[in-house]
Amino acid sequence: MNDKKPFAPSADRNQEVILAAITDELNDTDHVFEFGSGTGQHICHFAATLTSNTWQPSDLAARLPGMRQWIEESGCANILPPMELDLNSELPTSAHATACYSANTLHIVSWPLVERLFLHAATLLPTGGKLCLYGPCKFDGQYTSEGNRAFDQQLRSEDPASGIREFNDLKALATQHGLSHKRTLNMPANNQFFVWERDVT
Ligand SMILES: C[S@@+](CC[C@H](N)C(=O)[O-])C[C@H]1O[C@@H](n2cnc3c(N)ncnc32)[C@H](O)[C@@H]1O
Repeated sequence: MNDKKPFAPSADRNQEVILAAITDELNDTDHVFEFGSGTGQHICHFAATLTSNTWQPSDLAARLPGMRQWIEESGCANILPPMELDLNSELPTSAHATACYSANTLHIVSWPLVERLFLHAATLLPTGGKLCLYGPCKFDGQYTSEGNRAFDQQLRSEDPASGIREFNDLKALATQHGLSHKRTLNMPANNQFFVWERDVT
């Protein structure tokens, strides 16, 4: 392994369970657009197993060089060149998807950018297309663990605009954008995997 590559230990820990969850949701031919791909570890792992899918990573410009290293070393021909996308910007005209995915972004970015992520997903997805989201969440104002409560406090102390999101707020936002909640899977380490489906467009 090239030790100059960025490495996220958390992505290494959770990639297998997320792969199992997303495998159940995708069609063989889905073109999957990822928001906030980070190091690119997830997309490289998924693309190596789900070889008939096409994978489109995206993130802020600063993230792309590291991601390119992971993609190059993966040798996966089904990963497209990473796309620069700040959630606050318009989608590039070349952006295309039949499914969307993002992990651990909703609690990092501000609420207006969470809104943008749902808007972008709804814009990209055809009827029946899925948006799969992974990360921690609150339900009816309750944390799912004391660890998540402490994590939320830490996030907010570092950036008051960040923080673990409330499921009811996500559901209302999704509804506003024509996305229906299909299922929630409880994942290890008090995270969730959410599936939303695009209503008739
Ligand atoms: C905690 S990391 C998650 C990375 C990866 N998805 C994972 O699970 O390992 C949050 C990601 O959100 C991205 N991000 C932050 N602000 C963003 C923005 N305005 N637009 C797009 N992505 C953003 C960061 O660059 C980072 O890759």
